[in-house]
Amino acid sequence: MSSAWSPQFVFAACQRGAELALKKECAARLENARPAFSRPGFVTFKLDQPCLTPEKFQFPGALARTFGFCLGKIQGDHLQSLAEQSWQLPAVQEFLAAHLIDNLHVWQRDADLPGKHGFEPGVTPLAQEAEAALRTQSPLENLQADETSVQTSSRRNRWVLDVAMVEPTEWWIGCHRTARRCDCWPGGVPPLVLPEHAVNRAYLKMKEALLWSALPIVPGNLCVELGCAPGGASQALLEAAVQVIGVDPAEVDPAVESHPRFSHLRQRTMEIPQRHLLGVHWIVADMNVAPKYTLDAAEAIVTQPNSAVRGMVLTLKLSDWKLLDQLSEYMKRIRSWGYRDVRARQLAFNRQEICVVALRSRAQRRVRRKSRKQRRIDPAQKRKTCSPHFSSSTS
Ligand SMILES: C[S@@+](CC[C@H](N)C(=O)[O-])C[C@H]1O[C@@H](n2cnc3c(N)ncnc32)[C@H](O)[C@@H]1O
Repeated sequence: MSSAWSPQFVFAACQRGAELALKKECAARLENARPAFSRPGFVTFKLDQPCLTPEKFQFPGALARTFGFCLGKIQGDHLQSLAEQSWQLPAVQEFLAAHLIDNLHVWQRDADLPGKHGFEPGVTPLAQEAEAALRTQSPLENLQADETSVQTSSRRNRWVLDVAMVEPTEWWIGCHRTARRCDCWPGGVPPLVLPEHAVNRAYLKMKEALLWSALPIVPGNLCVELGCAPGGASQALLEAAVQVIGVDPAEVDPAVESHPRFSHLRQRTMEIPQRHLLGVHWIVADMNVAPKYTLDAAEAIVTQPNSAVRGMVLTLKLSDWKLLDQLSEYMKRIRSWGYRDVRARQLAFNRQEICVVALRSRAQRRVRRKSRKQRRIDPAQKRKTCSPHFSSSTS
């Protein structure tokens, strides 16, 4: 690792329309950053001073899906020539000379709001085409390998080269460290597709929440979902082999309603006698109400004597982006109930809302262990033999 590389430009990807709120979050927490180039869903910042410890840099707040350092921008009409130019950028060459690159993330900024006009975030066919061209022309053997040609997720604690297709003809090249689980997904979007059987797109939100948060929810656990209708999120929970009590005055889809591990309390949250929720391990909430109501509802359950609640996944609706100003207060309130590990993120599949997860302690987070079979075929071992750029470090 080169200690001399000290980048000064940062990029962040976010939901379309969240740029101003993201700049505000940044202004409040990263004083030395000034907004620079910006397009819907893609924002850059210039730091007053070069960043001396780029591998430790963290972008603050809940809105940046992914972030990294800018290495340059290229423009052109032909994909092959853009791919060639990407590898020739002086800053890219300088970076490659001193760093081990483990993977390539190629992604387009969002074309629309999640769920609007059938759009869902994720790697597009054009991004896949660009990725194929970049890999073919890559000077790094490990990036040319077939096994890495389909982007799903990268390994943790490595450097990844980003190609952000801000326009099909304008690519911003950057890099980031895969310090957190969500840094391993191209563009910060987990590789999820809405299956045919899903009742609605809330299924995707719940799947992403579970992937991102790594909550230690195990088969047989009891979850209550406040605001469960029509049932996509409950479906995702049921697939995790848990039992679900769904609370909602509205109708639940028959596919969910008839599930043997699902029961429906057709009432408003605050009308439910607390004895019906005895023994609940997890609270999930996705009600179209103000954040304060959602927090009041969760508090009423966790503050019961003998509460067995291990953690929460709360979707806080932001009817106005200004509500984000209260986020640290909301998180503080959750901590005051005895949940010390509280995190917030605008999930890729969220709309104008924030997902807050809480655990009693960080030690509860699920540790993903590789199966023996996976270890045997670890592609890292294969790459190690063919590429001088392979990093064997783990942190
Ligand atoms: C965004 S939808 C929930 C989607 C649901 N999680 C799913 O997976 O399909 C919001 C739901 O909150 C419910 N809701 C609103 N106020 C509520 C309350 N006080 N108690 C329970 N549910 C409520 C609405 O009836 C509506 O079904």
